[in-house]
Amino acid sequence: MDFEIEQMQTESLSLWMDTVEMPGNPTLTENLKTDVCIVGGGLGGLTTAYLLMKEGKSVCVLEDSEIGSGQTGRTTAHFVTALDDRYFDLEKYHGESGARLAAESHRAALEEVENIIAKEKIECDLEYVDGFLFAAAESPPGVLNDELLAAHRAGLSEVNMVSRAPLESFNTGPALCFPRQLQLNPLKYLKGLAECLLKNGGKIYTNTHVLEVHGGKDAFVKTKNGNIVKAQSIVVATNTPINNLFAIHTKQAAYRTYVIALLVPRGHVAKGLYWDTLDPYHYVRVESSKSGTDDILIVGGEDHKTGQNNKPEESFSRLEKWTREKFPLAKKIAYRWSGQVMEPVDGLGFLGHNPMDRNNVYVITGDSGNGMTHCTIGGLLIADQIMDIKNPWERLYSPSRISLRATGTYLRENANMAAQFGDWFTGKQLEELEDISPGEGAVFRNGLKQVAAYKSKEGILDLRSAVCPHLGCVVSWNSVEKSWDCPCHGSRFNCHGKVLEGPAVTDLKKVAEPVLNNLSLERKVVYENL
Ligand code: FES
Repeated sequence: MDFEIEQMQTESLSLWMDTVEMPGNPTLTENLKTDVCIVGGGLGGLTTAYLLMKEGKSVCVLEDSEIGSGQTGRTTAHFVTALDDRYFDLEKYHGESGARLAAESHRAALEEVENIIAKEKIECDLEYVDGFLFAAAESPPGVLNDELLAAHRAGLSEVNMVSRAPLESFNTGPALCFPRQLQLNPLKYLKGLAECLLKNGGKIYTNTHVLEVHGGKDAFVKTKNGNIVKAQSIVVATNTPINNLFAIHTKQAAYRTYVIALLVPRGHVAKGLYWDTLDPYHYVRVESSKSGTDDILIVGGEDHKTGQNNKPEESFSRLEKWTREKFPLAKKIAYRWSGQVMEPVDGLGFLGHNPMDRNNVYVITGDSGNGMTHCTIGGLLIADQIMDIKNPWERLYSPSRISLRATGTYLRENANMAAQFGDWFTGKQLEELEDISPGEGAVFRNGLKQVAAYKSKEGILDLRSAVCPHLGCVVSWNSVEKSWDCPCHGSRFNCHGKVLEGPAVTDLKKVAEPVLNNLSLERKVVYENL
């Protein structure tokens, strides 16, 4: 990759988002008919669209914002057979045969990405690198050995133990080497897929917000503007499904994850993907400069439940501390950003038929920190399902599956979710409203009502209901992303209440007049149309 860092970023902005210009697309302003309607313009959506287009289907992609503006622009794009849930854990949840299918499907996804890039001549900085999993001091002894044996049982005979990962700045101790993983620039790859789709008659509409998804014989999608897209099949690839009220959201949990990209002397950090075994774990990759004197070291981690950390800045500080300890030659932070990961209770994505729905509605979700690879598997699997081709992974990834062996995690995550309803009885007093700093937000209690108050840099207050329109939890302020985040299932809204991420599909409501009167503020309250 060639990059010139003119200015260090302090806002949340990924390296990819800053350096790749995505093609502009129209907004949907008419009714349409298509074979397959895909909701979500990230990697899951565009891979599925690409594969179905190759099968001769007409496809139409609807994206709420811009192509790649969701998690594909925020990933660190590790395409891997080394999963972030251990193979020995997958054996517990899905049996040895399930772990074997997981390995097989991840390997197939890597091959598919290579094939697409070669066939379509996509320039996306693809590199083959080895991946190294090393044990953190806190991890139980034997974790690497257990994983080595489980990886071999899963059919990954190429995985081997090395005395240390090839990092000069610190000794990782023994590490598992997963040969020939992939790294690439996710937005360049996505851009290539989008251009290929458009060239071959596929349709992409951006800034097109989907409100309703209906399956069955007369399946259709309805947008916020009231346009209808009729389709034989609908695929919802929106990180977490916006068309599923409950079934999926009790089986996965939303986590925020943090990334920093620092300049390091060129060649100082050996090319590779690196992960430790902490929980949450650190993940590392290196982006080389073709011309400059510095490479970019990309380090992620410090995950926490979405909406359950009121000091996200400290996550960046801890990540930086860890990075500087391990890589003392790292220079300034060039970029920093955060993203959202959906953690399924049993370690694997939910890819296929949407539970409790008509059988022509599909979802891609539950990326489990391996979003790029899982999304590619999702595209392959769902394309087969739509084309009526038997796929051996269908059962393993079925969104309807219930893994009884994951019951403990399921109960823990749902108890955590239920506990969030306690936020209804907390919150600052309205009198403290004036204390909000410009550019920040806070939740206030007004009798039985919860109010999300954001103060612009100019000091103008914008007051919204703090009640998440999905299932009624109280949102909390995210000072890093300047967003309102729901602690129950991860819905997110911008500082003015506009929905950014599902499962909610509607915005935070404007505060009703009587509440405003109670405030007796002289300040102007913004009521712009969202
Ligand atoms: Fe479910 Fe907010 S995301 S209640």
